[in-house]
Amino acid sequence: MSTQNDLSLESAVHRSLNRRDFLRFCSTMAAALALPSRYVSQIANSLSLATRLPVVWLEFQDCTGDSESFLRAGSRPDPIQPGVTDPSLVDLLFDFISVDYHETLMAPAGFAAEKSLNDVLGKYPNNYLCIIEGALPQAQNGIFCTIHGRSALSIAQQVLPGAMATIAMGSCAVDGGLAAAVPNLTGATGILNAFPGVKNLVNLPGCPANVVNLVATIVYLITFKSIPEIDSQHRPYFAYGEEIHEDCERHDFYEDEKFVLAWGDEGHKNGWCLFKMGCKGPETHSNCRWVKWNDSTNWPIGAGHGCIGCATPHFWDTLTPFYQPVDD
Ligand code: SF4
Ligand code: F3S
Repeated sequence: MSTQNDLSLESAVHRSLNRRDFLRFCSTMAAALALPSRYVSQIANSLSLATRLPVVWLEFQDCTGDSESFLRAGSRPDPIQPGVTDPSLVDLLFDFISVDYHETLMAPAGFAAEKSLNDVLGKYPNNYLCIIEGALPQAQNGIFCTIHGRSALSIAQQVLPGAMATIAMGSCAVDGGLAAAVPNLTGATGILNAFPGVKNLVNLPGCPANVVNLVATIVYLITFKSIPEIDSQHRPYFAYGEEIHEDCERHDFYEDEKFVLAWGDEGHKNGWCLFKMGCKGPETHSNCRWVKWNDSTNWPIGAGHGCIGCATPHFWDTLTPFYQPVDD
């Protein structure tokens, strides 16, 4: 007789995933969400039984970096089996979501694109996920970012109320990011500031936001039918609960006062602390060290560059100059 978990696995295999990939994905997600391993089967069951979650991805005042981050999370070599390629987290995620509207990536244009958006909103009221990338300019009624004659503010006003949840993907959508840096001539701001009453908002700051945290948030939504626990800035604790400095692999060098003093010096070659080169790890809360980038290849400090604090609120104004120590 099949158990519930067997059924889940079979369902997942029907969806083009093999068992190994599916279970590895569920385990990775439980780890990313800082959940005990007993939740792996609950994630597996929920994902395999869920219908695909419709996603509306709005792109406003930005550099497309978060879409790039999302798309370039490519497949990677299997560490155990030479010659075999593992699907990326995003490859796997596409089995559980349907990106029905994305201004940059979608095939339709003009009126057909507008129809696609209206179709999703009409077909899935309160059941689609909204992801916003980029800031919302408020100056002069938002004319600094318009799509087909409509301002970002107007489009967001149409889409947000019917979304089951909204994810601000990247610092621009969270607090205006680079677009909001002084002198902020366009009045750029983030979703929460523009729409204080928005429901179920999850902020994923970063320049760009890490795709692992995006995928984990979506998996949590599908599994638990709610957003993950968030702090006062709407950031999920699983991703932004810890300070980079405390967990840093160079922290012992900081304690021993062994600092890099010039790029390429002996301390740099030996992996010493980057504090005196301007590292903003002591000011920044993020799980970068653990999830890393480019399919978990490395992260800024691991590559020998200080953290510039891109997950910290208003970091372009508050943490520059980037190469100056934070207490100078
Ligand atoms: Fe802290 Fe940065 Fe030094 Fe790491 S490299 S210990 S985050 S100051
Ligand atoms: Fe950004 Fe610092 Fe992480 S620069 S990517 S918050 S290590």
